[in-house]
Amino acid sequence: MGVECFVTGGSGFIGQHLVARLSAAGHTVRVLMRKPGDIERLREQAEQLGGVAGPIHAVEGDISKAGLGLSERDKRCVSAARVVFHLAAQFTWGLTLEQAHAVNVQGALNVAELAVSQGARLLMVGGYMLRNEPHLLGIGVDIAQPERTDWPAVYRRVGGYEGSKLEAHFAVVRYMHEVGGDYAIVHPATVFGHSETGHIVGGQPLAGLIRDLAAGRFMAVPGTAEHWLPLVTVDYLVAMIVGVAFDPAMNRREVLAMYEHTPNLQGLLQLLAAALSVKAPRWHVPITLLRAVLRIPGLGKRLGISAESLNFIQTQRFDMAESTRLERRYRIAHPDMGRALENTVRYVMGGDLAQVRSAAGGLQSSPTVISGRRG
Ligand SMILES: NC(=O)c1ccc[n+]([C@@H]2O[C@H](COP(=O)([O-])OP(=O)(O)OC[C@H]3O[C@@H](n4cnc5c(N)ncnc54)[C@H](OP(=O)(O)O)[C@@H]3O)[C@@H](O)[C@H]2O)c1
Repeated sequence: MGVECFVTGGSGFIGQHLVARLSAAGHTVRVLMRKPGDIERLREQAEQLGGVAGPIHAVEGDISKAGLGLSERDKRCVSAARVVFHLAAQFTWGLTLEQAHAVNVQGALNVAELAVSQGARLLMVGGYMLRNEPHLLGIGVDIAQPERTDWPAVYRRVGGYEGSKLEAHFAVVRYMHEVGGDYAIVHPATVFGHSETGHIVGGQPLAGLIRDLAAGRFMAVPGTAEHWLPLVTVDYLVAMIVGVAFDPAMNRREVLAMYEHTPNLQGLLQLLAAALSVKAPRWHVPITLLRAVLRIPGLGKRLGISAESLNFIQTQRFDMAESTRLERRYRIAHPDMGRALENTVRYVMGGDLAQVRSAAGGLQSSPTVISGRRG
């Protein structure tokens, strides 16, 4: 039976795929939009991605505003939502502390408050760095007592985006425990395109990496042979988000959405370079050296690299036991990585979604779903 859902960040990359999947499963989807006039475009996009336009509706608001800036009428409209999916974020490098905090931290708390006020499940999308404890300790996060963390210092170390995502996570978890709210969190690795169509949005980090490689801007592999950039396809991620969102047993639980067999960074660049028919970089450059070089004013811009993005290239391996257990429970599996990367490259390099979609034989048989159960 269809469930009322409320989605923030529904116009974003992951959000579009989530809205498509929820609507295809028969749920009513109310999407918080800063520009509600864009709803027709989102409906069309959701249809292209395998969804159904009819049950998708816009609600005007902004997560950084108290009460999300909802009108009384829209408040009543979303009050029936049983699940609040929180994906909205300022996802860009170079944010100031104030910008990042207002949307990613205060905004997340505003969304959590709304979910609690109507007794809804909050499904929050975090990020895999939250499961990298050595990294968190290394940048000064007090995991045992997060409220004692010097957050401005963390922001200075890792940048506004990552700092605010980390702070938001601990602030929302604390708030939900204080008020007895129902929440579950999915932590995605870096997201790449849909495994069948390759669909990805231009501003995504992986799309940028593909374009840089194609343009010959990658002269060396950052880090060592142990360094990797953990990835996940958007279709697997959305299947996991939906499974967790509707699973009563996931209250107060967190799970990683990550393909643990993602090759090391050099191997990944080789796969992408082969799909692009360009040469992959062979030599490694230490990340500390790259960071130092990027301090030269203007160089980051010229090379198309941000020091903030380097944090996501790391050597940590993760405990995937919970993810594996949930894959079995929701009957989902990672699609073929090589094929998904090839399709993503094809899409980034000019494939139009409709064209790629028909080449892939449509979206109806998403490989991430082993059987018909979609949560
Ligand atoms: N993509 C990844 O590799 C990745 C990896 C780990 C975690 N994540 C997390 O996954 C979530 C979704 O990521 P994404 O890649 O889909 O991001 P995205 O494509 O950049 O989309 C961001 C979304 O947030 C909305 N938004 C931004 N500021 C807002 C505000 N003040 N009020 C309301 N909505 C606002 C945007 O709406 P507009 O259309 O109005 O701009 C857009 O819908 C984020 O929380 C991100 O941190 C992403």
